[in-house]
Amino acid sequence: MFDKNNVKKYLKTSYLGQIIKYYPELDSTNNEALALITKNALNGTVVITDNQTKGRGRQSNKWLSTPSKNLTFSIILYPNSPLNQINYYSMLAGLAITDCLMEHNITAQLKWPNDVFINGKKVGGILCESKIRGEEIKSMVIGIGLNVNVQTDALTKVLHNATSLFIESGTTFQREKLLANILNHLENRLQNTDNINPQLKEWEMRCAHLNQAVTFHSDNNFIHGIFKGLSPTGQAKMLIDDKNVYFDSGELFN
Ligand code: BTN
Repeated sequence: MFDKNNVKKYLKTSYLGQIIKYYPELDSTNNEALALITKNALNGTVVITDNQTKGRGRQSNKWLSTPSKNLTFSIILYPNSPLNQINYYSMLAGLAITDCLMEHNITAQLKWPNDVFINGKKVGGILCESKIRGEEIKSMVIGIGLNVNVQTDALTKVLHNATSLFIESGTTFQREKLLANILNHLENRLQNTDNINPQLKEWEMRCAHLNQAVTFHSDNNFIHGIFKGLSPTGQAKMLIDDKNVYFDSGELFN
């Protein structure tokens, strides 16, 4: 069972994860986090479960997770930041996850907008959901799913292009320590949203498909082009017929 008291041993943050709400079972940690926002949960509160029964992914996909083997959690933030910074949160979460994996000698890549890959297989995903008022982001839930200790059979029976940290490294990870490390990195990265360019460049350096031919699925169209990185607001920049075209949302294939 996940032990939230164990997270504190490794946590170096001032607000992220200072309050952790652990549930043995939940439909979706993002749903619970959104509900807690209506009850004025504190900035940085983390919602985590050992058994997420209706995990949600982007584009109405499901997020499947084996009980007690993985990390499924959501972080509550009240950014009060300009709307044009909305894409930063998933980029910074992807960077924080890969920072943490690097500390464990695992090299992971990012796929726009917010998938984490190891050796061409998906190990993690991020689902950000926000409430906007006017031109301001009032609240933000960053939901993270990371396949940690799940073994080959349990995972690949259901998901063909998925992997876990255990499968890639042969090592069992302490989930509490991983969570703390992700939060430590994320808090650092969130401090620098006003000078975002260096972090967007880092994201591009960790991207699995920079300067590669990709297909973009957006608004029922399949568009072919070269992925050229991020715009200053974190949109996908694609070179299509010698012109830069920017995308806010969509699914990317390579
Ligand atoms: C994706 O790859 O499409 C994003 C997956 C995000 C899954 C996480 S697990 C914790 C949080 N709660 C959810 O219901 N979804 C996110």
